[in-house]
Amino acid sequence: MSLYRFWWRFVFVNCLWVTVQSGRRFKREDIVNVAIELFNNCKCVYDYQCSTVNGENMIDQRSGGESRNSTKITCKGGRFDGEIICCKQTYTNWTEITNLDYKNNTKTEMFLKCGIQRAKINVRVLTDEEDGNVPFNGEFPWIVAIYKKNIAGRWVFYCSGALIHPKVILTANHYFRSKNAADFKVTAGGYIELSRIEDNLNSTRQVVEIVNHPKFDKDSLYNDGTLLFLNEAFQITKTNSINTICMPPDDLNINNSRCLVAGWGKGSTIDGTRVLKKVDLPLVSNSKCQEQLRRTRLGRRFILHDSFMCAGGEKGKDACRGDGGSPLMCLLPGERRYFHMGIVSWGIGCGSENVPGVYASVIKMKSWILDELNKKEIKL
Ligand code: ARG
Repeated sequence: MSLYRFWWRFVFVNCLWVTVQSGRRFKREDIVNVAIELFNNCKCVYDYQCSTVNGENMIDQRSGGESRNSTKITCKGGRFDGEIICCKQTYTNWTEITNLDYKNNTKTEMFLKCGIQRAKINVRVLTDEEDGNVPFNGEFPWIVAIYKKNIAGRWVFYCSGALIHPKVILTANHYFRSKNAADFKVTAGGYIELSRIEDNLNSTRQVVEIVNHPKFDKDSLYNDGTLLFLNEAFQITKTNSINTICMPPDDLNINNSRCLVAGWGKGSTIDGTRVLKKVDLPLVSNSKCQEQLRRTRLGRRFILHDSFMCAGGEKGKDACRGDGGSPLMCLLPGERRYFHMGIVSWGIGCGSENVPGVYASVIKMKSWILDELNKKEIKL
């Protein structure tokens, strides 16, 4: 009897301790999630964590190997519907490719497809995450921070971009007009806090060539794309959080979809550190976008150039100053992989209702990108 009482006290004290320890109160969602986990023998994690190699430690590996359980059990919480799912098994995204090296030796390499996220975390998601923070590194492993050397010779964060190839970055032209490649370096690795990126030299590369879109217009920002070529390719390995983002497919049909934009721009500072933030946005057709932009100070005669595309128009959900060059990322139809839809270019204010943000369309500049890569014999 007394032992029984003692046991309950132990449970009670322990729960209290855990609650205090984690510094937050468990919400009802968390309890629901625990139940979902128990019933389904799975773990509630961010959707993307279920499909990465790095997540293997965390998610119980079930027999059955490569094939993923197709029924998706959603957990509570997360910012977007279905963002947290109950994951039963992971499948490996790595493909072994065998080819001949320059000495004609056969060698096998592990290859990771573009657009696949990389998770590196081993905690279950609690539902009261900071609003809109990219919770962990590896969610957008292609986003890079670009640094510029200032007059004092110090490297300072300049803007962001995305890896479309291990040694090529796509970013916004309006940051790179008549600039010198030697003044720039970039860091990859899926880090979310800028300060942590600065410490990480392993994943830093020098920019050796800047190729601006030949039809860029500095006043109107038409064709706002630039390619940065790096001194050395980033390594995409099983243990780091680097990957490339896919190019938009030619036969694209994604009307009415929602996509994501992430960046270190305005509104991303928490306690003095800049943290990568993400937001989900609806794509907006060019005709609707032009129509909506005409109702702003741009006026009734404003014409939205063909090299742009739009997303957003929902209150408080937008990219903003400092996010220029970041990618607008959409899912390849029917896949769990992201492609580069647009480069953050400009907007009228940030996050006003019915005023979408304007992006340089990657679809429109795709042939230019492929031509430039071709000239350097770089294949995607
Ligand atoms: N021009 C800004 C920059 O380069 C981006 C502004 C994006 N604005 C927006 N409302 N989506 O940082």
